[in-house]
Amino acid sequence: MVTQTITVDKAPGRWARKYPHLGQEPLPVGPYVDPEYYEKEKARIFKKQWLYVALEREVPDAGSYKVRRLDCADTSVIIIRGKDNVIRAFHNACSHRGNTVVTEAGQETYGRNRAGVVTCRFHGWVYNAQGELVNVPHEDRFYGCFNKAENGLTQVHCETWAGFVFVNVDQGPVQSLKDFLGGYGEHFGTFDFAACDYGFTYHTTLNCNWKVASDAFAEAYHVDTIHAGSFPNVFQSGIEDVELFGPHRTCSVRLQVGNLPSTPIGDMANARSRSSLAAQGGSSSLPSTLNPNRDPDWAFELSVLFPSVLLHVSEGIWFTHQFWPIAHDKTLWEGKYYLKKPTTHSELWGFERAMVLQRNAWLEDTATMEDTYRAMLSGAKTVQHLQDEEILIRHNCVVVDEFVNS
Ligand code: FES
Ligand SMILES: [Fe+2]
Repeated sequence: MVTQTITVDKAPGRWARKYPHLGQEPLPVGPYVDPEYYEKEKARIFKKQWLYVALEREVPDAGSYKVRRLDCADTSVIIIRGKDNVIRAFHNACSHRGNTVVTEAGQETYGRNRAGVVTCRFHGWVYNAQGELVNVPHEDRFYGCFNKAENGLTQVHCETWAGFVFVNVDQGPVQSLKDFLGGYGEHFGTFDFAACDYGFTYHTTLNCNWKVASDAFAEAYHVDTIHAGSFPNVFQSGIEDVELFGPHRTCSVRLQVGNLPSTPIGDMANARSRSSLAAQGGSSSLPSTLNPNRDPDWAFELSVLFPSVLLHVSEGIWFTHQFWPIAHDKTLWEGKYYLKKPTTHSELWGFERAMVLQRNAWLEDTATMEDTYRAMLSGAKTVQHLQDEEILIRHNCVVVDEFVNS
């Protein structure tokens, strides 16, 4: 019999050894503060790559639509489900004189038209869910060169994965969403995202570059200091299971449950709710790709779906942080948290406690970002020094730079 010994590399510098092409040198601050660099990011990343814009269940019926504002791509998109059950996406721009067809109520606008059409409120042009222009008031007053059949909405690429809707506003042919996601799609694709049908969301606009905001969530190094009040001494082992999938990346975060402060409220919530990262145990709902050894200290997967979505997955919970660039120095942050709908008052109470804890933690996270950015703008520091456990940030800097200079 042949026995094989697998040695797990735990020594300092292990991620740099695993991914030597990412280098170890300090990284420049320039890409965070340079407006020209941001314009290239818009042109070569946000206007060229797949962007997560909606959940399929946000447009549940024929005629349901969502409009997502995309400042990073200088547009807004209408995501609409047709009577054929297909979800399509279009620029929210009217073929008449360019008004937005659906009047937007903010960054996200939802609606439903039972006839499955959207109507521009300026002069009443009507488009169906296939994007075709189906009615023009006083059409006979237009000239002979006007062809209704050629003046539908401008379609954008739209594909779905695991219940998520993505668009790509590149006007040319693009890589399929499946190819774009690659191994990342296989890693997370069999998790039952749809089972988590209840949740909460917070958002704010931050005066900082989108990468400052994204970086602040993409490491666990800050937890002992920034979250000393919310999560003291519970995330001390660093990150594990780092994997890079093309432009995307993931790792797992371990939780030292024994270090959780014991309080009457906290103990009760962890014992009774399904909505705490500390409430593990029982049978696992995770696919075999996540926490494959079922390690008891595994808390959640921390991943980055390129370019600017952080997707976290845990037992019966998933949440995203999405960083929408508005300008080189302005970012909309949206945190969205999903879990199974509480079925008892205890679970509902546990859910509300989780909502408060996350609010506190996310306030702690977002509190650093504008300070970081102001200090970057001072020019006092031209590089940042990353340690090995900040490998996800290093990977982002390398990948973004590759796109910008492509
Ligand atoms: S701009 Fe839309 S109908 Fe005139
Ligand atoms: Fe944090």
